[in-house]
Amino acid sequence: MRMWGGRFTDDSDPAFMAFTSSLSFDKRLYPYDIKCSSAWVRGLSKAGVITQEEQASILEALERVKSEMDEGVFEFVETDEDIHTAVERRVRELVGDLGGKMRTGRSRNDQIATDLRLYVMDECLDVIGRILKLIEAILEVSRSNIDVIIPGHTHLQQAQPVRLAHLLLAFGFMLKRDSMRFEEARRSADVLPLGAGAFAGTSIPVDRDYIAQVLGFSSVSDNSADAVSDRDFVLDTLFAVSVTMVHLSRLAEQIILWCSDEFGLLELDDAWSTGSSLMPQKKNPDGMELVRGKTGRAIGSLVSLLVCLKSLPLAYNRDLQEDKEPLFDALETLKSSLVVMEGTVSTMKFNQSRAAEILDAPFITATDLAEFLVSKGLDFPQAHRIAGEVVSFCVSRNKGLRDISIDELKNFSNLFDETVAGWLDPRGAVERKVVKGACNRDECLMQIQKLESFVQERLKRLC
Ligand code: ARG
Repeated sequence: MRMWGGRFTDDSDPAFMAFTSSLSFDKRLYPYDIKCSSAWVRGLSKAGVITQEEQASILEALERVKSEMDEGVFEFVETDEDIHTAVERRVRELVGDLGGKMRTGRSRNDQIATDLRLYVMDECLDVIGRILKLIEAILEVSRSNIDVIIPGHTHLQQAQPVRLAHLLLAFGFMLKRDSMRFEEARRSADVLPLGAGAFAGTSIPVDRDYIAQVLGFSSVSDNSADAVSDRDFVLDTLFAVSVTMVHLSRLAEQIILWCSDEFGLLELDDAWSTGSSLMPQKKNPDGMELVRGKTGRAIGSLVSLLVCLKSLPLAYNRDLQEDKEPLFDALETLKSSLVVMEGTVSTMKFNQSRAAEILDAPFITATDLAEFLVSKGLDFPQAHRIAGEVVSFCVSRNKGLRDISIDELKNFSNLFDETVAGWLDPRGAVERKVVKGACNRDECLMQIQKLESFVQERLKRLC
């Protein structure tokens, strides 16, 4: 069914129809499109444009279309250009010309904007639920490895000893912010565009506040031209997706490194890793590599919509149809990545004896050696220089910091005494990080508790 006619004598070229059609991807919006039409029909009836009986027949037809689509028996036809056309065509088959009345005062421009906002609001909740599950998995691994200490890195060079849970929890806090970003994206979608018509509003006196209430929107758009062309909520969602994917890619990379033979810290569960068709010994982190790889794709979706919107004149332009595929793809990519990440994290096993082995790194407590001198009253630059000289001495003797005697140390500063041994112990060094947010045991337990109450509070609020 074409939605125009009078002005045209010829049919569209099939290649043109195929080019402009959005049905293949916007049909997934059908529950929202039907919900949106039902609310509009109720608004029309309230405004006295259609009678109660007419409202009842159209709503019944819409219900029927919904069940046909739910059951997969709805027959799309070649001329269904998009989901709106398909639904209206079928309603008209069911109730005759009356079906056409539901289009009164409405345009596909305000309709698609409404459908998409409803979709985004639901998807944000779905994503938030998955992020919270992943945070839970991270909390569980953190708890069960609370006493594991490993060398931490900066520049991928061994830097200072750190509690493994502290590093895992860092990802928990990234994900906490991600879930809040999705709450924000949901708020940005939570505005009703319906009633904006093509862009100028409509002479039909429909009560938009009533429609917002029926559809569950918190407010109605202030400007009808903005309402049909605003895709900020899609950008906000794509930004939230991109940042979350960037965080997942960093966690993926960390896991890939930790399960390399060189680190040997981690083994992935069989269910979440792959073997090699050629090398029998291999166990590969393909899932994590795909999360890392798919991140580029999600960022691409954000960039493609930004470029699409750049310099678009008011109000609606068909370019806006190009918002959907990147949005759907990015959300599917993120949701499947979250599932794989949660499965991987909740089943991976840390090798605690290997952790102890690599912790015995020669210079991992060099900073603590300097801080020992500071505790004896030396200023930090001097302390840093002396600790550096000790390291250099050790390197030339092929020894580690814990292999030299107190007398040897005294050659560098007479402030050294027996108590320095405690400062050179990697475990002691971790517990001595006393500031708020550091990696000592109590602080990590506090972080676990903070994240846990965030998750519990959100679960209560969102479900
Ligand atoms: N399929 C379009 C979209 O996704 C909505 C239809 C608006 N079409 C139009 N010719 N005004 O944005």
